[in-house]
Amino acid sequence: MISISAPALEDDEIEAVKDVLKSGMLAQGPKVKEFEEAFASYIGTKYAIAVNSGTAALHIALLAPGIGKGDEVITTPLSFISTANSVLFCGAKPVFVDIDEDTFNIKPNLIYEKITPRTKALLPVHLYGQPCDMKEIVKICGEHNLALIEDACQAHGAGYAGKKVGSFGIGCFSFYPTKNMTTGEGGMITTNNKDIAEKARMIRNHG
Ligand SMILES: Cc1ncc(COP(=O)(O)O)c(C=O)c1O
Repeated sequence: MISISAPALEDDEIEAVKDVLKSGMLAQGPKVKEFEEAFASYIGTKYAIAVNSGTAALHIALLAPGIGKGDEVITTPLSFISTANSVLFCGAKPVFVDIDEDTFNIKPNLIYEKITPRTKALLPVHLYGQPCDMKEIVKICGEHNLALIEDACQAHGAGYAGKKVGSFGIGCFSFYPTKNMTTGEGGMITTNNKDIAEKARMIRNHG
């Protein structure tokens, strides 16, 4: 029997949790800061902001650049429901673009026909750890002045053209137990943009 999603938790993880329990710092303590810095360095971004789930990461990553009511966000229909729900949580409308049958990821040349004056962001998903066609996606965002939010909840460590996913736009990661790495429940936002990082930290803490 080969288990495909059992978390690999050994003595060093158990000892690390014991240290945190003994410290009494069970929420935003020094270990969270240490984790944020290590994760940012691993992904190759200046900032990483820890949150309590991948869904919260997506929600905040959309709120931080100002996505809200009346806006449209282009995304893929083939994902966990959290991707589209996070757009709805902001009062915006998810607009679906079909996938490439070879990669299961959003097909860039179908994005153009869905762009309207209300489109504010692209939200591609690096599904099953497979990076999207970032060359085309970054180009479309530049041409149409769109925010780029990457759902990298299943793609920790996946690389594209020498960079890690989550470093092209605002990256969103999940640490749910079935993911590539876990904290039990948890998530992370990654970005190189100082304003977005500050805004995300504020929203994480109820503004
Ligand atoms: C593609 C994708 N997006 C978002 C999420 C949401 O992450 P979480 O379960 O940590 O809220 C998940 C995982 O469940 C996911 O697989």
